[in-house]
Amino acid sequence: MSTVTFPNLRQAALTALLSAVLAGPAGAQFGPPRPKPTGPWMNKSLSADQRADLIAAQMTLDEKISLLHGGGWQMLFGGADAPPSKSLGNAGYIPGVARLGMPDLQMADAAVGVTHSSVYGRYSTALPSGVAAAASWDLDLAREYGALIGMELHDQGYTMSLGGGVNLAREPRNGRIFEYKGEDPILAGKLVGAEMKALQAQGVVGDIKHYALNDQESGRSYINVKVDQRAIRESDLLAFEIGVKESGAGAVMCSYNLLNGDYACENSYLLTDVLKKDFGFQGFVLSDWGGTHSTAKAVLAGLDMEMPGNTYLADPLKKAVEDGQVPMARLDNMVHRILRSEFAVGLFDNSPERQVPDVFHGIDVAERVAEQSIVLLKNANGQLPLAASRVKTIAVIGSHADVGVLSGGGSAQVDPMGGNAVPQPAETPFFERVVWHRSSPLKAIRAKAPHADVQYDGGTDPAAAARLAKASDVAIVFVNQPSSEGSDHPNLSLPGNQDALVSAVAAANPHTIVVLETGGAVTMPWIGQVSAAMEAWYPGVRGAEAIANILFGDVNPSAKLPLTFAKSEADLPHPKPTTQPPPASDKDMVEIFPGFKDNATRFDVSYDEGLLVGYKWYDAKDKTPLFPFGFGLSYTTYEYSNLKASKSSVTFQVKNTGARAGAEIAEVYATLPPASGEQFNRLVAWEKVRLAPGESKSVTLRLEPLYLSIFNVEKDAWELVPGDYIIQAGASSRELAVRGSIHLD
Ligand code: BGC
Repeated sequence: MSTVTFPNLRQAALTALLSAVLAGPAGAQFGPPRPKPTGPWMNKSLSADQRADLIAAQMTLDEKISLLHGGGWQMLFGGADAPPSKSLGNAGYIPGVARLGMPDLQMADAAVGVTHSSVYGRYSTALPSGVAAAASWDLDLAREYGALIGMELHDQGYTMSLGGGVNLAREPRNGRIFEYKGEDPILAGKLVGAEMKALQAQGVVGDIKHYALNDQESGRSYINVKVDQRAIRESDLLAFEIGVKESGAGAVMCSYNLLNGDYACENSYLLTDVLKKDFGFQGFVLSDWGGTHSTAKAVLAGLDMEMPGNTYLADPLKKAVEDGQVPMARLDNMVHRILRSEFAVGLFDNSPERQVPDVFHGIDVAERVAEQSIVLLKNANGQLPLAASRVKTIAVIGSHADVGVLSGGGSAQVDPMGGNAVPQPAETPFFERVVWHRSSPLKAIRAKAPHADVQYDGGTDPAAAARLAKASDVAIVFVNQPSSEGSDHPNLSLPGNQDALVSAVAAANPHTIVVLETGGAVTMPWIGQVSAAMEAWYPGVRGAEAIANILFGDVNPSAKLPLTFAKSEADLPHPKPTTQPPPASDKDMVEIFPGFKDNATRFDVSYDEGLLVGYKWYDAKDKTPLFPFGFGLSYTTYEYSNLKASKSSVTFQVKNTGARAGAEIAEVYATLPPASGEQFNRLVAWEKVRLAPGESKSVTLRLEPLYLSIFNVEKDAWELVPGDYIIQAGASSRELAVRGSIHLD
């Protein structure tokens, strides 16, 4: 499945390796409960900055240092009597200063839901993957997604989330694409911004990660990304810029990789020049787990917190301050940034009372997100929706569709309700576990067609599956692509015999429908043979019910692809991924804690496609993808007309020309003047338009100057290039039905 696998974690070795890290800072043992905060910093009429300054003025140097590093990952790795402290045992823990009533930072991984709940026998909602939610293009839904995670974190006593992944799908084989928000910086940035703002409104510090250019997992700890500044300001960094500015996120996690020669967590260009100065980021930068590599260099570059461990930002930092290598003012600024983020979300003001998460609400949100996320890719001859009353026999094939739906692995893995539907050997390394949520497509399909004979075949033998398909009115083949942090896909093919399975079934039954459960884009050599296909991603705890609702037409699909599906790897900017395994002896250590070993073999990856990420590459190189960015079908049809553009807005009509109510994601693209050097389309606005049959609406969308700008490296500023801009609107990046133009001086 993968080019680089996460190492086998041996408990004995780990106990020794991690003891320093797990224990957390001194003073983390059970102690008296946090006194009710008093003091002038509790005056809510003051700003978060003022309150942070007031409390920081009371802190000793040691107390300040204690906020800048912490323990973590106790649930994963345990320890003799884990959790050994007040830590809730998830990814990170930093005790507050009890004498000042300062709350603890209890950090949980929460990309698609709160992780590791099973340790306490608790419930957390497994939402559809991040890229699935992005396929909804729906900012309201992104807010619901973030609010739900924030609520469930708060209910369980966590005070900080480690979610908000917004790395672009620059390398479509990246194993973490399921956690992210697709390939377009504006779409991804707006979505993560909405999600994090809503999460923080629940009184939890939000984080956006992995900053930046951690666009592949292979060699993530020692890969040196080479790419030019203008390109990243207009692509990867723009997603962070929008996300940070729109959410006011309290934290940004710097990534494992190097960028143009410096580790991201000690890269002053990334952390100080761009993030803190240009984006105006007020919060704190914490390292990805083990991603800190130095003391003075990192701190002076802009790192504010080492996680987890105390190798660089504990005693060595104190010494660096005392020696004058790090000015006291910089240390105070680090502390200020952490405290102001805590005040800003109300950590000091809200009671940390725990309660049972609202399971019904969580499940409801998860199902709605899934329904808005499933992309209908092909629907020949109106194969879908299925008419329950007319179908007599249905073959359901493959992907454990009798018991569950797939989820994404690694630190984003949400524990499955009731356990893994497809149990794995207990010794399976954490990052290699393939977890299926107990949402059974077979059951959901049977419930929709109670009078049909619905049979299941596991799909391991294509000939047997084809026999069942031949004897059925309709064959629904489920295919899957497991993904996890720590590894990339070697190519874009579905793993195992699944392509052969689909072909065999399609040859046996002309009414073959394929449902994909993948992390991101895959190739589909069989697409011409099947009558319908839908991308369900990792659809979460109610995935099967959402899939069935779309198959049988209870929900009209509206989602659109947030990333391009290539016909083959030959069409990618890099037909082969750049990988280079580390020396065998270093591999385990470096993969687990990159910062523990700095001299592993580094290698360069040149993202020389620059800002031509995703559809921009296909447009600029005139390549036809399998399915373009922004594409997705509906059970109704829409018509665009009458586009009028002005310097600040665009107006056009969308009409539902079919017989069903639906929601059309109307997309607006701009082509910049030739002087920009960017002769390809960029998404600049969109709206989900809900339309009854026959209904027509006028849509007016703002044209944000930033989204029309280029980044001038010499001036170190965004600028609008004078000239004519083509503004087009339509159903996808390749179906732009109406156009106009504007002139900017
Ligand atoms: C991942 C982060 C995660 C952290 C803590 C790292 O391996 O890259 O995304 O938040 O671990 O679990």
